[in-house]
Amino acid sequence: MFNFDFYNPTHIVFGKDRLGELDRLVPANAKVLVTYGGGSVKKFGILDRVKASLGGREVYEFEGIEPNPKYKTLIKALEAVRNNNIDFLLAVGGGSVIDGTKFIAVAAPYEEEPSNLLKFGMNPNKKIKKAIPLGTVVTLPATGSEMNSGCVISYEDGKFVLMNELLFPRFSILDPTLTYTLPQDQVANGIVDAFIHTVEQYVTFPAEGRFQDRTAEGILQTLIEIGKKTIGNPTDYDARANLAWCATMALNGLIGAGVPQDWSAHIIGHELTAMFGIDHGKTLAILLPSVWNVQKEQKHAKLLQYAERVWNITNGDETSRVDLAISKTRDFFEDLGIKTHLADYNVTADKIDDIVKALERHGKTALSETRKVTLAVSRQILEGAM
Ligand code: NZQ
Ligand code: ZN
Repeated sequence: MFNFDFYNPTHIVFGKDRLGELDRLVPANAKVLVTYGGGSVKKFGILDRVKASLGGREVYEFEGIEPNPKYKTLIKALEAVRNNNIDFLLAVGGGSVIDGTKFIAVAAPYEEEPSNLLKFGMNPNKKIKKAIPLGTVVTLPATGSEMNSGCVISYEDGKFVLMNELLFPRFSILDPTLTYTLPQDQVANGIVDAFIHTVEQYVTFPAEGRFQDRTAEGILQTLIEIGKKTIGNPTDYDARANLAWCATMALNGLIGAGVPQDWSAHIIGHELTAMFGIDHGKTLAILLPSVWNVQKEQKHAKLLQYAERVWNITNGDETSRVDLAISKTRDFFEDLGIKTHLADYNVTADKIDDIVKALERHGKTALSETRKVTLAVSRQILEGAM
């Protein structure tokens, strides 16, 4: 096992009917900016409940954080934050609203040009001295953003990741009943996102992270057990609660501590979202089987372990067990209603050049746990994803 630091200060408030506790969780004299997306929280009454729980506090709103939140949308919030001396941000929504709010939290007190926080090649982390504290109310279980210190922001022609310890939410309310109104395909996106966060910290090379491996296998098996069930029956509380907790635990630092990680599917996937607008979860379902096929040799031992412990595949020679595990993974995504080929999204093979060029522009030239996924290997992965 590698050396690691594990730090996670986020207070999780999980379960039914917990929105009323905002009054306890948000500082009594806070000036709060409530941030949200394109209207689902208004439509389904969550915003009203949030505002009621905030009682007599001075509350402002920032509406319209879109999926794959854009820099140019988020900077519109900065003036409101500064002019009203906002000292607490409350994100109510999915990963995009939470990520966008994290960006607002660091950009508002940042002394330089805020786009410097995102530009490739800069390492602004050491220059981030302050962030406005934030809390979240999660309406879409998927990204884990509610319990981690990262955010992903769309800027110019790409998506950029910013991570900083000041971005851990102070608290996150995870009430599975708030997710009942999600469209089926967003639930499926969330299941796939959580699944792939888990395998990207698990299907690498053996590193004697036994707790991390077995916890990852537990998350994967739970997602396989409840995935179709929670799509078919959105108000089955326990199925949805398991999805919510798995999504949070898949990307809060726990299973990735001390083990190698391979974020190739995510990094290449961000280019697919930026260029073609494909949902984040769907980009991962398209790429993962190909990431594994192309790296079968270096991942052999862990793919075999995955086949046996997650899918109970114990018969046949090693190669066929690995192949069967990869095809079962693809079938799992397809069964949730997520198509797994680029061609399903009208992306044709002649676009691969442009995708590889975008990876190059963004400096993504050495990916995976071994950094051996060069641009040529990314090209192979994309070809395999057609
Ligand atoms: O905007 P509204 O009207 O609220 O509608 C949203 C949005 O259209 C809707 N929705 C959310 N909760 C709902 C609901 N509709 C009905 N009922 C509800 N309860 O769902 C749509 C998608 O929302 P979005 O927040 O975009 O989805 P998700 O949570 O999948 O977030 C995706 C974003 O997170 C980033 C992705 O790159 C992408 O930008 N990620 C963030 C990570 C992190 N911070 O750690 C890691 C991830 O790997 C990921 O990259
Ligand atoms: Zn993801």
